[in-house]
Amino acid sequence: MGSPYAAMARAREALCSTLFISSPTFFSNPIRKPKISVTHMPHRLHHQPRRYCAAIPASGLSGRVRSPELVALEYADLNLPDYELGVRIRQHVNPLKSSLLIPTQVPDWNEVFKDSTLPLMVDIGSGSGRFLLWLAKRNPTSKNYLGLEIRQKLVKRAEKWVDELALSNIHFMFANAMVSFKQLVSTYPGPLVLVSILCPDPHFKKRYRKRRVVQKPLVDSIVDSLVPRGQVFIQSDVHEVALEMRNHFDAKSDMLVHVDDIHPNIHCDADGWLSSNPMGIRTEREVHAELEGAKIYRRIYQKRS
Ligand SMILES: C[S@@+](CC[C@H](N)C(=O)[O-])C[C@H]1O[C@@H](n2cnc3c(N)ncnc32)[C@H](O)[C@@H]1O
Repeated sequence: MGSPYAAMARAREALCSTLFISSPTFFSNPIRKPKISVTHMPHRLHHQPRRYCAAIPASGLSGRVRSPELVALEYADLNLPDYELGVRIRQHVNPLKSSLLIPTQVPDWNEVFKDSTLPLMVDIGSGSGRFLLWLAKRNPTSKNYLGLEIRQKLVKRAEKWVDELALSNIHFMFANAMVSFKQLVSTYPGPLVLVSILCPDPHFKKRYRKRRVVQKPLVDSIVDSLVPRGQVFIQSDVHEVALEMRNHFDAKSDMLVHVDDIHPNIHCDADGWLSSNPMGIRTEREVHAELEGAKIYRRIYQKRS
């Protein structure tokens, strides 16, 4: 019979049809994206109860596939053990509460990474960490990866997975990026080449918008900290959130250019959103959102040299 992960990997291969090819600089992995057909189109897409879709059951999976199964499929290559998170964790954290405003201690980067001079990618709001683990496994000697996440339980589990995979080029930190990003990256010995902010918490209510992670001070720190030609990758399945992030980064046009030709196969639509994810793998939130029929709004910027 084989393991369910092997079955998922086979199913993924069979489902793969959309090819994204390597890009010139930091986006360097061929992407294979499972094609699914959605049977239920919700009106509100973010953080809604799971819905179901009809998948193409090539092998191993049959009938209707749920979102967690698709996530497992997306990351089948990692073959991660299913550590329990314990009691249900909060879906949204208030990053402005006093206990989260204390800066995270800077680690000894030489203890954290095997080679702390490698180019660094930072993922802000790394969630479960699977996305970054996948990239780190793909590029074990050419880049370091740092995930900043405000929900501690996710960080603890991600670090267990790092040990499980025996990776020496990735580290997860329990940190409020709004508070700790600048100090963390400014002490890193190597160049900061890529920062991603992927499907950040939307905090829909007007009075909670100041909890959104992308605020001017963080944007300024990101742009200041990147090396020349370093890049920023943003995306959201919530148009309003994507637009707000875009406005923040567009406002830095003296230092950043919008990249609309990251790869010949990945185009920008008429509104300036990238047609597909250039990283080689989708994030978990992206998998959930696409399953529900959402459009993902993506943009890449590059620091002027
Ligand atoms: C909707 S999830 C998206 C996770 C992942 N990027 C993805 O696309 O699947 C947003 C994540 O950002 C984290 N987060 C929110 N505010 C944060 C902050 N100020 N600093 C670090 N992480 C934060 C949340 O805990 C959550 O895990």
